[in-house]
Amino acid sequence: MYALVTGASKGIGKAIAEELAKNKFNILLVARSEDQLKKNATEIAEKYKVGTDYLAIDLSAPTASTEIFNWCTKKNYSIRVLVNNAGYGLSGNFERFSIDDNTNMMQLNMIALVQLTQLFLPVLKSQNKSYILNISSSAAYQAVPYLSLYSATKAFVLSFSRGLQQELKRTPVSVTCISPGSTDTGFASRAQLGEKGLKTADKVNMTPEAVAAIAVKSMLSGKTEVIVGFINKLGAFMAWLLPKKLVETTAMKIYE
Ligand SMILES: NC(=O)c1ccc[n+]([C@@H]2O[C@H](COP(=O)([O-])OP(=O)(O)OC[C@H]3O[C@@H](n4cnc5c(N)ncnc54)[C@H](OP(=O)(O)O)[C@@H]3O)[C@@H](O)[C@H]2O)c1
Repeated sequence: MYALVTGASKGIGKAIAEELAKNKFNILLVARSEDQLKKNATEIAEKYKVGTDYLAIDLSAPTASTEIFNWCTKKNYSIRVLVNNAGYGLSGNFERFSIDDNTNMMQLNMIALVQLTQLFLPVLKSQNKSYILNISSSAAYQAVPYLSLYSATKAFVLSFSRGLQQELKRTPVSVTCISPGSTDTGFASRAQLGEKGLKTADKVNMTPEAVAAIAVKSMLSGKTEVIVGFINKLGAFMAWLLPKKLVETTAMKIYE
């Protein structure tokens, strides 16, 4: 009974790996930082008495998904849970980043997620019960100026997950899309959030452990779409209720 978690070296992915280990899944950890993966794999194996293994790989490389799938096949790891968590944001003026930077983010946040899903679906379908857990963001619920491309990648994740859940309704595979809001991880620093963005995040930050507990519980109970935390649920509701321009200009003031 294996769960494969991308972005499991730190942050939400690491916490999800632990939460799944608590539920007695064997854990396969994937990210780029080999030392951190090795440390997490050892700690999780000792603490929860489950099997662990890891693969250090850059998921934004075009062949990465196939390499991960081949690694699992070669090692006979039959996946029951696929967690597509690895992702990052780039904040600031869209043109501030190069075409390569923006493409890299889209490759990780969307393409790798789709490819892993497609590669592992036959294995997931062959299980009695299996799960796909995709990590989106509260940013999926509105356009976010100065995080425009990131929020669009997360809207993609949400829409793809919902559609796929319906397509797979009569199979053993359930698809859950989780949208955290600000979470206390390395995300803000990689996204290069400005002072106002950091201050706003600080006020509403959740811990990765709290997010992971909700994510895994929602996944195991077969929920389709979950916004994590009351403030983030309220934010998504207001974004739906209020005029889009007002919602977007308010967000712009935070991230510009
Ligand atoms: N934190 C937030 O406020 C927040 C809010 C909403 C949604 N999210 C989403 O939650 C997910 C996890 O983010 P986090 O907050 O936990 O951020 P984080 O602490 O920066 O962790 C990101 C994880 O993704 C991995 N990763 C990044 N680039 C990678 C690549 N090219 N190839 C393979 N692995 C890669 C990182 O590992 P390596 O660096 O070792 O590769 C790390 O394990 C992301 O999808 C993010 O968009 C976060």
